[in-house]
Amino acid sequence: MPINIGDKPQADFNHPLDLMMDCHRRIERFLLVLQKVAQAPVLDGQNRAALRAALDYFKISGPRHNQDEEQSLLPAMLASCNVAVAEAVVQLNRLAADHVIAEELHQRLGVLAEEWLSTGVISEENRRELKGLIASLIGLYQPHIAMEEQEIFPLASRVLAPQALTAIGEQMRQRRQSR
Ligand SMILES: [Fe+2]
Ligand SMILES: [Fe+2]
Repeated sequence: MPINIGDKPQADFNHPLDLMMDCHRRIERFLLVLQKVAQAPVLDGQNRAALRAALDYFKISGPRHNQDEEQSLLPAMLASCNVAVAEAVVQLNRLAADHVIAEELHQRLGVLAEEWLSTGVISEENRRELKGLIASLIGLYQPHIAMEEQEIFPLASRVLAPQALTAIGEQMRQRRQSR
């Protein structure tokens, strides 16, 4: 599984929705990395590097993506006062709730994986729990990303004025500069 954490984003800050979809592709890729490493009988150098990269991604870039959506995209959509956004408010709340659940799963996964990295061994019990957490994350992210890409982002591109999209892109850029 190639680790392309240093990949240049396909999109730029002038196209914030495309940039968010690039993030989704990285989330999916790193979930597969986690799934693969969790099957590994031993934590060799390659698996160790892959696990480290995936943990770092979900610790730093994952939360930033959620902030892009919760603090930039969703408020801008609500501020548009468009009736279609009001009708989608249940889905918007659901997305934010998913972020909270995902964060809790990532926290526990991080504890188990960091222990594995530091000791080089993992008990069968912990491995079972680790695999379960990864399966839960995949099960959570799959419909979450589908809803965002099939319903929410297309709605955003319909209701947001170009200036609103520019402002979202600028907020995303600043978010990545400030840390
Ligand atoms: Fe999301
Ligand atoms: Fe997302």
